[in-house]
Amino acid sequence: MSSVGKSAGSVSGAFPDVAVKDLDEDQAGAEIARLTEEVEAADRAYHTLDAPEISDAEYDALKRRLAEIEARFPQLKSPESPTEKVGAPLAEGFAKVRHEVRMFSLANAFETEELTDFDERVRKYLNLGKDAALTYTAEPKIDGLSLSLRYERGRLVQAATRGDGETGENVTENARTIGDIPHHLSGAPDVLEVRGEVYMSHADFGRLNERQEKAGEKTFANPRNAAAGSLRQLDPRITAERPLRFFAYGWGAASEPLAETQFDAIGRLAEFGFSTNPLTRLCDGPDALLDAYRTIEQKRATLGYDIDGVVYKVNDLGLQRRLGFRTATPRWAIAHKFPAELAWTRLEAIDIQVGRTGALSPVARLSPVTVGGVVVSNATLHNEDYIAGRDAKGNPIRDGKDIRVGDWVQVYRAGDVIPKVADVDLSKRPEDAEPYEFPKTCPECGSEAIREDGDAVRRCTGGMICPAQAVEKLKHFVSRAAFDIEGLGGKHVEAFYEKGWISEPADIFTLGDNHGDELRQLEGWGEKSAANLFAAIDMRRRIPLNRLIFALGIRHVGESSASLLANDYGTWEAFEAAMTSARIGEGDDWKRLTNINGVGDVMATSLVTAFHQEAERASIDRLVSMLEVEPVVRRGPVESPVAGKTIVFTGTLEKMTRAEAKARAEALGAKVAGSVSARTDLVVAGPGAGSKAKEAERLGVEMIDEEAWLALIGG
Ligand code: IVH
Repeated sequence: MSSVGKSAGSVSGAFPDVAVKDLDEDQAGAEIARLTEEVEAADRAYHTLDAPEISDAEYDALKRRLAEIEARFPQLKSPESPTEKVGAPLAEGFAKVRHEVRMFSLANAFETEELTDFDERVRKYLNLGKDAALTYTAEPKIDGLSLSLRYERGRLVQAATRGDGETGENVTENARTIGDIPHHLSGAPDVLEVRGEVYMSHADFGRLNERQEKAGEKTFANPRNAAAGSLRQLDPRITAERPLRFFAYGWGAASEPLAETQFDAIGRLAEFGFSTNPLTRLCDGPDALLDAYRTIEQKRATLGYDIDGVVYKVNDLGLQRRLGFRTATPRWAIAHKFPAELAWTRLEAIDIQVGRTGALSPVARLSPVTVGGVVVSNATLHNEDYIAGRDAKGNPIRDGKDIRVGDWVQVYRAGDVIPKVADVDLSKRPEDAEPYEFPKTCPECGSEAIREDGDAVRRCTGGMICPAQAVEKLKHFVSRAAFDIEGLGGKHVEAFYEKGWISEPADIFTLGDNHGDELRQLEGWGEKSAANLFAAIDMRRRIPLNRLIFALGIRHVGESSASLLANDYGTWEAFEAAMTSARIGEGDDWKRLTNINGVGDVMATSLVTAFHQEAERASIDRLVSMLEVEPVVRRGPVESPVAGKTIVFTGTLEKMTRAEAKARAEALGAKVAGSVSARTDLVVAGPGAGSKAKEAERLGVEMIDEEAWLALIGG
């Protein structure tokens, strides 16, 4: 078993302060920015580094709240939102593989009602009545990592991880070492991409960690991380020594259909020699699905491998095709997740960590306890209100019970690292336990720590004089999604900072000139490694605009927001000029900034403030003077006969529902409008078309029927 949770990120989004329905637009904008940043940070930690920082349940809660807010304020939703994305950036070292058919993720359901909602949505989309027969499959959701295996004429020719869904990593040689993956298939279509989950059993995970520990190597937090770390080894001989397994549950490209139903297709995969999950069931509606869920949940503890829910899929593949996909998830499937796991233990101490933006994050130090097979000794406590038993509006949480050192507390996790403290048992509170007093000064630099109006978080005001903030900012600067400097990890940043060699990003680019000789003398370094580091730093003197903006570490400006800003301003010069002349809340530059879809007042204020703060601005200028910033290269539009066209559907469509038609058209790059105007390019009219058809005729807009529409878009 492994001990996990050495550090805790701030995950305040999991405990929203204000109900989504009560948010005003500004608050929504601020929260979208914050949640986006938190989700992206978690994505990076999880996918790129195989080292998750928050639990699945927390992650799901963050993403769910983000999606809810976006649904209420669609005007604030960024096209780059993490809710539109499947995975995360790729690790370096593997060749990239573009998936012929995108690898999708699954939408999640947590409550029983969400399962019935799913069934209702599917029926509505397909225009099926409540009593029409509709069959689903239910199967365990394996907690591993997905893999796509491409077979041509029965031979395994390529294996790729999911990556961001469109492009994954080529791990063919590694996949060939997995016993469950056949190298040859007989009777399979000429081209077949088999998809499934690579995972590690509990027993193998335990043995691997023992071996690792004996060898003085790093141990893994859980079987999923062990599976991911093992599959993504640059040396396939290491993968071969790791006991990985594979369950097939789907497919991507296929030169001919495997079957007419999901269930039969899985049967074919089993015939080809794949392991398929024996608990897969056919269900004739939500009640049967719930039954399957309960049965699988009961078996969970004895399966010998981790599962984190049950996946429901529409069985009929024709209906699956009609239902199609949203941006990142299919409409025909959903993952019903298990509730998080719980345990009780003693709260030994509360430590405060200081983050990049000065946020003081309280971390619970716990008497070690096993939660779902992992020993937990740290958990996040979110913020001071959370400890005090209230939300930011002063409303009670946990019935108003505060958390004190010495308390008997409930720890909550869902199969992953950084759990949280969810409840406290007052009957076991020691008599001398004192209410926790949240520090009003920064434990790292002694500066005053203040809480701004409306902010749940108390922040150190020390800025760059606070060593914790400075180091975290530098770590952020060199991180993968920012400058991604190979060979310059968090530990080096800390060491170089302590030596006084780097205190702000610009110093990294003068490190060689100013401290090259000292570095070469340093233990663990030599001519070659120092030269490699300086070469890696030099490589980043040219940097894309979005990465630079993100790397600056300005509060509320996450990876997606940085891309939005870069896309809008195009060049550093334009961006910098606009930020310099912008005034908070007034003038054209402010208007332009806040008009960017996805940039709210909160983010805009933070940006303008950063560019007007003397010290911060000087530090940015010093940095940029050493760089060549690449302007944004704009992506070409989707290629299709309807790309860029505005289309209106009217009348009854016979081959598809209106929602289906809209989704198809949008996927082909068209805009679908609700009413006909001079800007409409095409009207697709079915029987019964009335005023809209008349209006189209009057305006001379081209009008076609459903058949012609299908012919136009290729069926
Ligand atoms: S189907 C288009 N079935 O869960 C649908 N996914 O959260 C693609 N997973 O990326 C996924 N067990 O890695 C499917 N029985 C199962 C699964 C499963 C585990 C994973 C898979 C996927 C993720 C989505």
